[in-house]
Amino acid sequence: MKPDPTNTNDVAGRSAALAQAVAAPLTRAAIFLVATLNPGAENCATLRSFCGDLSALVRAVEFRDLEASLSCVVGFGSDAWDRLFGQPRPAELHSFREIRAGARHAVSTPGDLLFHIRAKRMDLCFELATQFIARLGNAVSPVDEVQGFRYFDDRDLLGFVDGTENPRGAAVADAVLIGDDDDEFAGGSYVIVQKYLHDLGAWNALPTEVQERIIGRTKLSDIELDDSVKPTSAHNALTTIVEEGKEVKILRDNMPFGRPAHGEFGTYFIGYSRSPRTIEQMLENMFIGRPPGNYDRLLDFSRAVTGNLFFVPSATFLENVAEDPAVEDQMAPAESSAAPAAVKPSPSIPSVREGSLRIGSLKGDVPHE
Ligand code: HEM
Repeated sequence: MKPDPTNTNDVAGRSAALAQAVAAPLTRAAIFLVATLNPGAENCATLRSFCGDLSALVRAVEFRDLEASLSCVVGFGSDAWDRLFGQPRPAELHSFREIRAGARHAVSTPGDLLFHIRAKRMDLCFELATQFIARLGNAVSPVDEVQGFRYFDDRDLLGFVDGTENPRGAAVADAVLIGDDDDEFAGGSYVIVQKYLHDLGAWNALPTEVQERIIGRTKLSDIELDDSVKPTSAHNALTTIVEEGKEVKILRDNMPFGRPAHGEFGTYFIGYSRSPRTIEQMLENMFIGRPPGNYDRLLDFSRAVTGNLFFVPSATFLENVAEDPAVEDQMAPAESSAAPAAVKPSPSIPSVREGSLRIGSLKGDVPHE
């Protein structure tokens, strides 16, 4: 986690909460690490203290090449949130909701923690993941680890440019950062991840024009198809959400991954938004169809093998977790006596003291590319 100093939310005139580096620019390399939190109060304690060390770990690895834009975002699943932080909870945090429709299945798979590590160089991502795992020890069990790479000019392994319609500039914060809609968690985000495997042989057997109508854009030049030729089932049609006349955007940083000799060719989908409902609506449109049956043909060639929803608290929240001894003291008994989550205290943004944020240490950060 490297807080993004450009993403400050000043909510209701209170101290601004620093967001994690959700809005970091697309990079050449990424590691997506999903893990479960092992049972036991001691493992919760390890993870909570890790939250406070996170930014120092990122800074240490980042300093080895300040130009490489190393960043990390950490997210927490619904069950882990209760165990680690209790009440209050982010208003819309819940487990990933699976979807079944015909042969299509958006699976829900285990995962308490997500690390989304990005850099221009894979070695920095690799080093940071190694340091995290060393620090967390037996507190967590890895579930899935994917090393993603940028493929030619930001293409997925299906050959299409992926990421074009992402929001840019000020629109990014508007799309991904919680504001006064859940002001206790201002500066946070929701993130949904799904690991897709492609049947590349079948996909490549399609004529380019058919592929283009499935995606909704031209393959070589990446231009959106005109509505007169674009089917309503096109991927970019079904993932366009309009509410009260306004398009609701999400921020994606999908990465290709694979093992050619094993016939494995995939896309790791990652989408950030200020409400999980937006991405869930896109998934319903893709898997069930809009209207039902008018589903995303991309799914005839792509199978989701994981599915998770996480909450990404602000960097301010994470710093406060580690520095608030009251949380540490009160969590262990609650954990062992299985007391209801409602009695557990949680650090919240209004209690943040400016002096405890170590924001000063961020000031020398090299801006992202
Ligand atoms: C197999 C996995 C996927 C692949 C290969 C893929 C690929 C693409 C491509 C090539 C585009 C067009 C270029 C662009 O605007 O980025 C696109 C657009 C988009 N995709 Fe996906 N995608 C996948 C899964 C998903 C999922 C699961 C969601 C959301 C639940 C999603 C949401 C979007 C959105 C919001 C757009 C932009 C639509 C627009 O405003 O034009 N994608 N995707």
